[in-house]
Amino acid sequence: MHNRAGMNPPHGPRGPLRGGALLSFPRHPEAFLRVSRKYGDLASFRVGNQQFVVINHPDLVREVFVTKQDSFVKGWGPVAGNTVMGHGLLTSEGALHRRQRRIVLPALHRQRLEEYANAVVRHARQLVDGWRDAPSSNILADARRITMLVIAETLLGTDIAPADAARVSHALDIIFRRFAGRMHAFAGPLRRLRVRSAKIGAEAGRELRALATSLMDARREQRGDDLVSLLLDTRDDAGDPLPDALIVDEIVTMFVTGHETIALALTWAWLRLARDARAQAQLDAELDAVLGGREPSFDDLRQMPYAQGVIAESLRLHPPQWMLGRRATEPVSVGGVDLPAGVNVLLSLYTLHRDARWFDDAEAFRPERWAAGVEKSAAPFTYLPFGLSIRRCVGEGFAWMETTLLLALTASRLRALPLPPGELGMEPLIVLRPEAKARMAFVARAPEAASAQSSAP
Ligand code: HEM
Repeated sequence: MHNRAGMNPPHGPRGPLRGGALLSFPRHPEAFLRVSRKYGDLASFRVGNQQFVVINHPDLVREVFVTKQDSFVKGWGPVAGNTVMGHGLLTSEGALHRRQRRIVLPALHRQRLEEYANAVVRHARQLVDGWRDAPSSNILADARRITMLVIAETLLGTDIAPADAARVSHALDIIFRRFAGRMHAFAGPLRRLRVRSAKIGAEAGRELRALATSLMDARREQRGDDLVSLLLDTRDDAGDPLPDALIVDEIVTMFVTGHETIALALTWAWLRLARDARAQAQLDAELDAVLGGREPSFDDLRQMPYAQGVIAESLRLHPPQWMLGRRATEPVSVGGVDLPAGVNVLLSLYTLHRDARWFDDAEAFRPERWAAGVEKSAAPFTYLPFGLSIRRCVGEGFAWMETTLLLALTASRLRALPLPPGELGMEPLIVLRPEAKARMAFVARAPEAASAQSSAP
């Protein structure tokens, strides 16, 4: 059976959806979950003249993102040029993308991560001081401030003044909140509705780019051991440097991708731990045994499988980048269904990660499911918080290092006051944030007291 687009649709809410139906574009992770549970692993829907296919099976993931990846692009190109990250690594395609990955990767090499770990711990002390005995803390806002300082110091080789940090934070809020629809290439038909939002978002984008430009100019005068210097020193085969605009794109990209996601992983982990006394006690016991009251370092990371399991489980249930989207550049068959060029394929990591076929007790928070190590504990193509294949996150090693150290330092010093069980509200933007009112409180804890408690019957 073929529809007007020449596609034989799988199960799903098919047929053209127009007018009011625009509003039913499933933008909430729970809505995607319902689509896949109701219509199966390959569902389709239309918004205006755009065809969307929602996939939710490891075999289909493999087809779209690995074996047939050459038939797809991310599709941000037309919108990326005049938005925030331009043609940086996250949004570029083809040969430019491959070249940018090669340029950026040395700055994220394991040896560099060891150096960056010291900066993480140094900045993380502020979190402990700020949260200790505060009646209530907006942990995402606090964590974002810290992760922003870390990415600025480590990758970009600069200190951010508190006033600049506040401005950047505000600009990013606007971009994530108001600009989200426009930046998702696959939300094309919705773009027209967002002219006002786009204007405000563009101003915030300009602010970020101005900051990145001043950073680049400062580095031009005095090189350092950072990514900005690396970008400035890059030459192509003809000996020409990268265009300034592309360097700014790359700085903004690293800045945007490199801090909010990490703050989210930490925040969701703490929101879970505060509802789970057993998990918190197990984490306490591991930290006390490994650290014995001292601060964590890069070398401790391998000794803290439970802490890593807490982060892995937080990324499973609340993947910060919860949706991957691709657009077919040519007719391609996926799962035996012929898709026309131009079709948008969506993969909700939120849905994939909560599938009982791949994870026992899938809705439960169980850090111990990762005891054998993250790579070995999930079936192939079922756990993808960092994406996959040629577009896999370049910051993955950085992210594991930073999130685990932030968790280890804060949890070795603080205990979360319990939060009532129940649903964790969320605000799905490009990233998956907890609801704005999510707050927590902590009290100081002594390592010995925690060990005694965790070994009690
Ligand atoms: C917990 C933290 C993080 C999560 C969950 C995360 C998630 C992701 C995901 C899912 C993708 C793939 C997107 C796609 O294929 O459509 C991605 C790509 C990317 N991430 Fe991350 N990320 C994190 C941290 C970081 C950090 C710390 C950096 C920078 C230091 C970073 C930089 C990037 C870049 C530049 C890309 C684009 C790579 C490419 O297309 O070649 N991310 N990330």
